Amino acid sequence: MYYGDDLVNEVREKNDIVDVISGYVKLKKQGSNYFGLCPFHNEKSPSFSVTPSKQMFYCFGCGKGGNVYTFIREYEGCSFQEAFETLAERAGVKVEKRELSEREKKEQSKKQRLMAINKRAATYYYACLRSPAGETGLRYLKSRGVDEETARSFGLGFAPPGGGLIACLKKEGYSDEEIRDSGLAVMNEKYGMTEKFWNRVIFPIMNISNKVVGFGGRVMGDGKPKYLNSPETAVFEKSRHLYGLNVARSARTDSLILCEGYMDVISMHQAGFKQAVASLGTAFTTSHASLLSRYAKSVLLLYDSDDAGVTAALRAIPICNEVGIVSRVVDLKPYKDPDEFIKNLGPEEFQKRLDNAVNSFYFELSVLEKRSNMSDPKGRSDFIHEAARRIAAIEDEIERDSYIKGVASRYMVEPRLLSSAVAKAAAASEGMIIRESLRDGRSANKPENEDGMHKAQRLLITAIADHPEIFSQVKAHIGPGDFLPGVIGKVAATLFEQLENDAYNPAAIIDMFDDEEEHSLVAKLFNSKYDGIEDVAGYERFVTDLVIKIKKNALESALPPGGDEDPLESVRQSRRMSDALRNIHIKIGG
Ligand code: UTP
Ligand code: MN
Repeated sequence: MYYGDDLVNEVREKNDIVDVISGYVKLKKQGSNYFGLCPFHNEKSPSFSVTPSKQMFYCFGCGKGGNVYTFIREYEGCSFQEAFETLAERAGVKVEKRELSEREKKEQSKKQRLMAINKRAATYYYACLRSPAGETGLRYLKSRGVDEETARSFGLGFAPPGGGLIACLKKEGYSDEEIRDSGLAVMNEKYGMTEKFWNRVIFPIMNISNKVVGFGGRVMGDGKPKYLNSPETAVFEKSRHLYGLNVARSARTDSLILCEGYMDVISMHQAGFKQAVASLGTAFTTSHASLLSRYAKSVLLLYDSDDAGVTAALRAIPICNEVGIVSRVVDLKPYKDPDEFIKNLGPEEFQKRLDNAVNSFYFELSVLEKRSNMSDPKGRSDFIHEAARRIAAIEDEIERDSYIKGVASRYMVEPRLLSSAVAKAAAASEGMIIRESLRDGRSANKPENEDGMHKAQRLLITAIADHPEIFSQVKAHIGPGDFLPGVIGKVAATLFEQLENDAYNPAAIIDMFDDEEEHSLVAKLFNSKYDGIEDVAGYERFVTDLVIKIKKNALESALPPGGDEDPLESVRQSRRMSDALRNIHIKIGG
């Protein structure tokens, strides 16, 4: 960042966040905040909030948040510098735009350099497709029915058989090492550094901010492999990206569609199904699923109609369950994949298939049914018992009950019999869970669970931000050093410093962090929800309890590690502690 802090502050302060965001999202005032539909994930009812007093936005649905710079960066998919320049211009603040000097270019972090290489390569391939050298590629895309607008919006390109990218990158000052690290070149014993992609149509892979992080390339003709993908690099972790998500994230549909490949996504988008995404040349993983869960609560699985597709769907279902996404499976038979289906039957028929997607539980059972010998009484009974075991594993009682009814009628079992089989299966698995947890020493811990102290500290930061007047009382008991290390500690230290100097400015704290994920974390600290508080007295009790909890934790961690110390000393210590805590009473308004 080469703009000074003063200028960054000035431009931020001259762009009221409500004004700016109103230009993109329809906002409605509600109490002291504004609410609207989140532009960063799919939703039908507004959970996206903008708070004028904090000059921050935060989505209670997907957790995205930050200040006005973050918003522009995320919405426009641009760098901080570009967001800054846009907002400076909007507010009429004169800033000198200038090219980076040679030295500054070198100083750019390695990741930024790799991102810049990717961007350059994408424009290179894009231009090639539209040059004489790209004729084969263009013809291929045409033959597959990809129209010009789609090709443009996906940034499709062509890597000519003769190459040329390496020379182009070198001319722009990138070193051999950087080019190799970008994954666009491979080392070859005989020929030295050669290009990874040649004679292939190129699919740039973009992150959710529309930045190119890697590439896929489809061979022309029948060569092997059919698709070649960038290797993982410092900026491309395969399980953190889904092809098409940069567009699908704002498709405003109830579910996202998860399919297999580049062409599937492209033909669905072209047919108007902009909610389609694909995992790229790798199996669908839990990281993919949690990425998806930020944008949709349910997903339609649209894998190829072959055995491999069924296997892939069976793998994906439990992964979706794990992160709390409801999944359904779409049947495309007799066509092989969405691309073929849409070409043959068109978008309306395709929509019907989406509407008729099968609940994934019944999909799993139907696969199991096909693999069972249902005409044999033993085979049938094994099948029903397996179904009972699966129903028993469902946590929600009402859901379990509807599956008992559904399975009973689908497979013609007496509901009473099925119920008792489910109850037996539940009892058996409970015994197993207890045995397992005894063996493991403790039951599986949920990764999402925020630690209690972190939560208390987050709630306190929100309370101080909502009522800065309580700060002087809080600081009589708690110092910034009493916060946990990491983002929360840094935020607390700065917030305390600002308040100490009468310079309260939460939106400025966001700019201490570069990473967009960190912006969301910081925004979350300032936007905790506290429910169940009815009046001022209740609120004061709530904040007082938070301060006591945090102070107690701080005092305890300051104690020397326990051992064989004097028992009298520990009595004295706990007396000192309760004396310190007894005096804490936070009052609103001084
Ligand atoms: P498919 O072979 O089903 O691709 O692989 P497709 O989209 O139907 O291919 P076309 O229509 O013949 O062009 C599905 C996805 O699996 C990955 C790619 O991401 C592809 O889009 N894949 C496939 C590879 O990574 N490498 C391969 O060799 C093949
Ligand atoms: Mn396919």
